Amino acid sequence: METLKAMKTRKSTRSYTGSLSEADLQAVLIAGEAAPIGMGKYEEMHMTVIRDQELMNEINASAAAFFKNPEMVPLYGAPCLILISTKIENPAMGNVPFSDAAVMAENMTLMATDIGIGSCLIWGAIAGLNSNPALVEKLGLPEGHTPCCGVVVGDTTESFVERDIPEDRITVSYIG
Ligand SMILES: Cc1cc2nc3c(=O)[nH]c(=O)nc-3n(C[C@H](O)[C@H](O)[C@H](O)COP(=O)(O)O)c2cc1C
Repeated sequence: METLKAMKTRKSTRSYTGSLSEADLQAVLIAGEAAPIGMGKYEEMHMTVIRDQELMNEINASAAAFFKNPEMVPLYGAPCLILISTKIENPAMGNVPFSDAAVMAENMTLMATDIGIGSCLIWGAIAGLNSNPALVEKLGLPEGHTPCCGVVVGDTTESFVERDIPEDRITVSYIG
């Protein structure tokens, strides 16, 4: 299995050429579909494929206003944002739906790496999006859905190199 190689090679790509083939998009989407979801509630998750650059510019602008940073372009000129949304019905159990979305997103970045296209996990711009209900409304999400996070994907001129991961980058403690 080449899983560890894909994990070490994956990186956040923040420059894009603007293109993305339909085959590559579908490969990334099936990786999202393959994710585990809490209690198997697949019907409660939704992916919105956004390729409309005007709409992506509005999401960029909304995030720039939210973060009070007019310079920021948090979708990095990528040709596609895959937005993941779900219902957050019980905030006390919000860790489950947000984690569902995160697991889907990471599956998709690993697949993007495997097929040699760029990807980046997007949370900041989604916080900005959520601060703008009128913009969320434009997305036509399923009833009651909240945008959780997203992944931008697309072709890039950046290269992908397997990286060494320091074993102590994240602390680990052992009990027993
Ligand atoms: C929960 C989460 C949210 C993130 N949100 C963003 C984001 O909004 N914008 C961005 O450019 N990168 C975002 N990232 C990417 C991280 O900054 C990046 O994964 C980390 O710095 C390690 O770099 P690497 O992905 O190149 O290995 C996010 C990553 C995670 C796990």
